[in-house]
Amino acid sequence: MVTTAPKQEEAVGGGTGPTTERVLVLDFGSQYSQLIARRVREQGVYCELWPGNTPVQELARQAPAGLILSGGPASVYDQDALRPDPGIYSLGVPILGICYGMQLLAHDQGGRVRPAQQREYGPAFVEVDSREGIFTGLPQSLPVWMSHGDVIDELPPGYRVVAHTANSPVAAMAGPGGNFGIQFHPEVAHTPQGSEILRNFLYETCSCQGTWEEHSFVEHAVAEIRRRVGEHSVICALSGGVDSAVAATLVHRAVGDQLTCLFVDNGLLRRGEADRVIEVLTRNMRMRIVRVEAEARFLNALSGVVDPEEKRRVVGREFISCFEEETKRLGAVPFLAQGTLYPDVIESTAPDTFGARTIKTHHNVGGLPKGMSFQLVEPLRYLFKDEVRKVGRALGLPEDMVMRQPFPGPGLAIRVIGEVTKERLEVVRGADWVVIDEIKRSGLYSKVWQSFAILTPVSSVGVMGDYRTYQNVVAVRIVTSDDGMTADWARVPYDVLSDISRRIVNEVPGVNRVVYDISSKPPSTIEWE
Ligand code: XMP
Repeated sequence: MVTTAPKQEEAVGGGTGPTTERVLVLDFGSQYSQLIARRVREQGVYCELWPGNTPVQELARQAPAGLILSGGPASVYDQDALRPDPGIYSLGVPILGICYGMQLLAHDQGGRVRPAQQREYGPAFVEVDSREGIFTGLPQSLPVWMSHGDVIDELPPGYRVVAHTANSPVAAMAGPGGNFGIQFHPEVAHTPQGSEILRNFLYETCSCQGTWEEHSFVEHAVAEIRRRVGEHSVICALSGGVDSAVAATLVHRAVGDQLTCLFVDNGLLRRGEADRVIEVLTRNMRMRIVRVEAEARFLNALSGVVDPEEKRRVVGREFISCFEEETKRLGAVPFLAQGTLYPDVIESTAPDTFGARTIKTHHNVGGLPKGMSFQLVEPLRYLFKDEVRKVGRALGLPEDMVMRQPFPGPGLAIRVIGEVTKERLEVVRGADWVVIDEIKRSGLYSKVWQSFAILTPVSSVGVMGDYRTYQNVVAVRIVTSDDGMTADWARVPYDVLSDISRRIVNEVPGVNRVVYDISSKPPSTIEWE
C-alpha cells in the first residue's frame, strides 16, 4: 500500500488511542510507514502514524515513549521536502530515523547529507561496528533491505557510526538522548532481524513496558464504549465479515441489549452465510439481530443491470433503503457502530475527532444518505486487520468467523458477469461452495487472500455421457496478497485444482467447463467486475 505524504491539515493520528504507552511514527511519505506501525505493535507497544510535520505541541500531548521518523521519497535538500517540527529534538524522547528519517535527523542535528554516487536499492549486508543499543544481541553481519539515494557525508556533533556497508560508510549512527539513525528498512521482511532492531529501540532505548495486547484492548474498548454510549441505543449493520462482527461483539459486551444489529439478507450472499452469521452471533453471543429478508427487492432492482458500477450503485442504494426503513422502526437510535479499521482511517485522511462525528456519505456498506445523523462508534479504528482477528479470538468468536476471507459488499452480484438472476446466482453459489470447501480441505484457506468462483457469460460445448452439452463456463480465482492492493494468482497444486474442477462440473447443474484465472493484479483486479 502506498501512503503519500500527508498534508498539514490531514491529521492521520490524533485520536485518543486505546492505551497510554505509545510510540509515534512521523510519516514522511514512505510506502512502508504503516508497516512500521504494525511492526512496533507486534512488539507489544501501541503505535500510531502521524503526519511528519505535526506541530511538536500536539506530539507532546501524546506523551510518546519514542518517535520514529519514517522514510520518504524526498531529499532533505528539496525545497518542498516534508520536515518535522524542529521542536521534536528537544522533546526529550529517543528518536529512531529510518532512511529519509535518518537523513533528516543527521541534517537537523548539524550533520551533512549528500546524494550517493550510486543509488543503493535492494538487499545488502551491514557490518555492525557497535553491538549495543539497537544492535544488542545481534550478529556482526546482518542482511538488510536498502532503498536510498542520499548518504550521510558528515555526522552531526555527538554522533558516531555504529554500522556500515560496502557502499554506505554510515549505515547506522547513534547519538545523544538515545537517538539512532538507520539507512536500511527494519520494517520489511527482507531485513530478517528488523523486528529485533525495533524491539531493542522500544525496550532498551525507550524503556517501553509492552502493554499493547488484545486483552487489554478489549477491556479499554468496552469501558470507552460504555462511557460514550451511556444509556442510549446503538445500531450496527452486520456484513458477515470479521470487522463488523468484532465491532458488534465489543459493543454488545459494553452495552448488551442496547445494541441492535441489522443483517440484510440480500440474496447475494454465499451459501449458508446468513444462517451461519446469525447463528453464531445470536446463539453464541446472544446479540439481538434483526434479519431483513430482502432477496426479492435486491434482485428486482438488479434486473437488467449488467454494468459493474451500476450493480454497485444499485446494491448500495437498496442497502440504504433497508437500513433507513429498519432504523425508523427502532425509534431514536443516536449511535451507529461500524467496523472501520486503522488503514481506512489513514487513507481517508479525514481529521480524526474520536469524539462525535456525524456520518457523511461515505460508509462501509455503501454511502448512507445525507441528513442521516448518527454519532459513530468505531472501536476498531486504531487496529490493523490482524489485530482485529486477535481481538475477535479474545472475544470468543469462532475461528471460521475470525479467519474469513474478504467478501465484497456487492456480494455475488459482481461475480455473476452480466445480468444477475436468481438462477445464475445459484450456479455461482454452488461453484463458490466447492472452491471454498476444497481450499479448506487442502489447508490453503488462511494462506491465500481470497478464493472464489465467477460465473462467466460464456457457454461452451461439452460432452457428458453420450450427450452433447452447451453450458456455462465457471472461472476459479485464487489469489495471494498482503492487503488486496496488489495480488498474484496462487500456485495451487494441480491436484487441488483438479478436484475443484471435477466437483464443480459434477455438483453444480448447468456447468460443463472450469477455467483457472492466472492473472496478477495489476494489470487485472481481484474481482472480475
Ligand atoms: P479488486 O477487485 O479491486 O478488489 O482488486 C480488491 C479487494 O476489494 C474487494 N472489493 C470490494 N469490496 N465493495 C467491497 O466492499 C466493492 O465494491 C468491492 N470491489 C472489490 C475485493 O473482493 C478484494 O478483496
